[in-house]
Amino acid sequence: MDYLEIEGGNKLSGTVDIAGAKNAALPILALTILCQNEVKICNLPPVFDIKTMLSLLENLGATYTYQDDCATVDASTVHNTEAKYDIVRKMRASILTLGPLLTRFGHCEVSLPGGCAIGQRPIDLHLKALEQMGAHIEIKQGYVVASAPDGLKGTTIIFDKITVTGSENIIMAAALAKGETKIINAAKEPEVVQLCEILNDHGVLIKGIGSDELIIHGRDRTLLNIPEITVIPDRIEAGTYLCAGAITNSQITLNKVNHSHLISTILKLQEMGFDFDLHEESITIKPSAKILHANIATTEYPGFPTDMQAQFMALALQADGTSIIEERLFENRFMHVSELTRMGAVIQLNNNIATVEGNHSLNGADVMATDLRASSALVLAALVANGTTRVHRIYHLDRGYVSLEKKLQQLGAKIKRLKE
Ligand code: UD1
Repeated sequence: MDYLEIEGGNKLSGTVDIAGAKNAALPILALTILCQNEVKICNLPPVFDIKTMLSLLENLGATYTYQDDCATVDASTVHNTEAKYDIVRKMRASILTLGPLLTRFGHCEVSLPGGCAIGQRPIDLHLKALEQMGAHIEIKQGYVVASAPDGLKGTTIIFDKITVTGSENIIMAAALAKGETKIINAAKEPEVVQLCEILNDHGVLIKGIGSDELIIHGRDRTLLNIPEITVIPDRIEAGTYLCAGAITNSQITLNKVNHSHLISTILKLQEMGFDFDLHEESITIKPSAKILHANIATTEYPGFPTDMQAQFMALALQADGTSIIEERLFENRFMHVSELTRMGAVIQLNNNIATVEGNHSLNGADVMATDLRASSALVLAALVANGTTRVHRIYHLDRGYVSLEKKLQQLGAKIKRLKE
């Protein structure tokens, strides 16, 4: 197993390229199930979760080639409709194959993804919506066994809670359903918007794109023809590097970004004293005379993303006072707290609220990555800790960050990947 060794206390400088968004690429890969042709997908981030989704598609009968940052996927050959536990357990987003398989084949068996470190993460809203579209669903031996022999039918769905992958699953299911599906309280994340735009550009008329109310005109099982897709930039990877610039109080530039997707992150950093230069596809963060404390509450897009909560907690440890961080989406997304505490952080936890004391110097330690974004918070803290930090179990990081250590080295950080 690999771990990262980081020597703290160095300023960063220079430029780094941001990869394509993992969370946009995953539904796009699932979308190939709805296509009758080979789909070329570019700006695909070469991270573990993408490889998992490609092997799931291959297991279902698709073929693919993957070179540089483009994959060509031919899912017209999919014949197997069982998404096996062995693959699904590696990545919750495998559930994104449920809607496409069911709407194309009229039946499928997808392993339940189970809980994960950050919370229970049920899929009840995905299942309820598919049932409303006419599916019969049973849970058998850990699998969602779904059937709709005559195809799914458009209807009105109101999501009780905003769900990103739930919205994506139903959007893809609705694309091949019979008639019109109205989704009320849909997620508005840029990754959902890109999925809708691709569909809308290729024969699935969607009204309300970017809003929380979508109307999707289904194609009654007529497969799609989508030749090429370019994945949008990863707003969470970009936000993490902005935090790397902020925590070390350095000037760095990110290329290949879409800063309109980063507004809540940029506004919070401005509140903490940082300035920015924004260009069409790049963004520069500039040092702050004093890092100011800030309060944060995670919420759905365009609010402050839960996927940036851990990184901002690391940053808040360097601020001039106490910051209050409230996690509203996932019940157990504070596992980085105990690891940060091992580095000298003073953080009080009260249910879903963390009170983070700034101005405490951090010391290098051996710490354990617990989930994807928590892991990056530990790396950020290590950049400013005294001495050496070793971050173990970094397979979590490899699920979502492209060559994190190489990009940080390029910015001047003293970080290396070693074997346990
Ligand atoms: C997606 C992102 C993840 C991000 C999260 C919230 C992907 C692959 N992952 O995860 O990085 O942290 O959005 O922005 O895009 N819920 C239910 N029942 C359901 C579905 C969700 O109760 O059927 C709850 C969840 O437990 C959670 C909330 O709704 O409390 C939001 O979850 P959701 O948006 O579904 O997260 P994911 O799509 O799994």
